[in-house]
Amino acid sequence: MSSEAVIRAARADELAAVLSLWQESDVTPPSVTDSIDGLTRLMREPGGILFVAIVDGRIVGSVIGGWDGWRGNIYRLAVTPEYRRRGIARRLVLEISSALFAKGAERLSALVEHEHRWAIDFWESLRDLGYEYNPWFARYIADRGNGTAPSNLARILDNESRPDDERTMLPDIYNWFTEGFDIADLKDAKALIDQRIA
Ligand SMILES: CC(C)(COP(=O)(O)OP(=O)(O)OC[C@H]1O[C@@H](n2cnc3c(N)ncnc32)[C@H](O)[C@@H]1OP(=O)(O)O)[C@@H](O)C(=O)NCCC(=O)NCCS
Repeated sequence: MSSEAVIRAARADELAAVLSLWQESDVTPPSVTDSIDGLTRLMREPGGILFVAIVDGRIVGSVIGGWDGWRGNIYRLAVTPEYRRRGIARRLVLEISSALFAKGAERLSALVEHEHRWAIDFWESLRDLGYEYNPWFARYIADRGNGTAPSNLARILDNESRPDDERTMLPDIYNWFTEGFDIADLKDAKALIDQRIA
């Protein structure tokens, strides 16, 4: 039955259908990049791959592969409910793994929710393809729209890195001077050193 499915790279005019597939397949959690813009960006990236499984002209499965120069990662593996248990997801993983290794990846990984027993069972079934459960890691995420917006990061960087610079650099610079300690700039520098460093 799985031979009916054709696995190939998605086309730009298929992105809305891929988003619908994710909705009907209940891929969770819906993520910040589940949008036409997000998928368009992915397809423009040299390391980004979006494969779809097609049966009778319909998109019934998808998988994303990302190669960042360090690891290959697999995301958004989904098969629409009527086409499950026909080996389509297995073929999607085979194809995406092969494509990521071809790009140069040495190790691939996929995130699976602990509570999604069916997904764990699926990945357990891929041991013959080399996939092994790895219990060592917890996942940390940061979204652009959260506390880590670029402007916030810039402010935090500014606050957290400048005092260190001052601690290490300002006394050195101050010590270059042998005279002129009564001019305003040097008085300010001395006050700053006393206040922040002493
Ligand atoms: C997980 C998912 C992608 C599997 O797709 P699929 O095309 O049905 O998977 P396959 O037919 O290739 O399954 C291969 C093997 O995985 C195991 N497996 C797949 N689905 C399973 C399930 N619901 N329960 C238990 N084992 C399952 C079986 O061993 C199966 O072989 P078998 O059918 O000969 O017993 C699909 O159920 C899905 O889209 N679920 C919702 C989204 C999701 O959870 N994605 C995974 C994110 S990590």
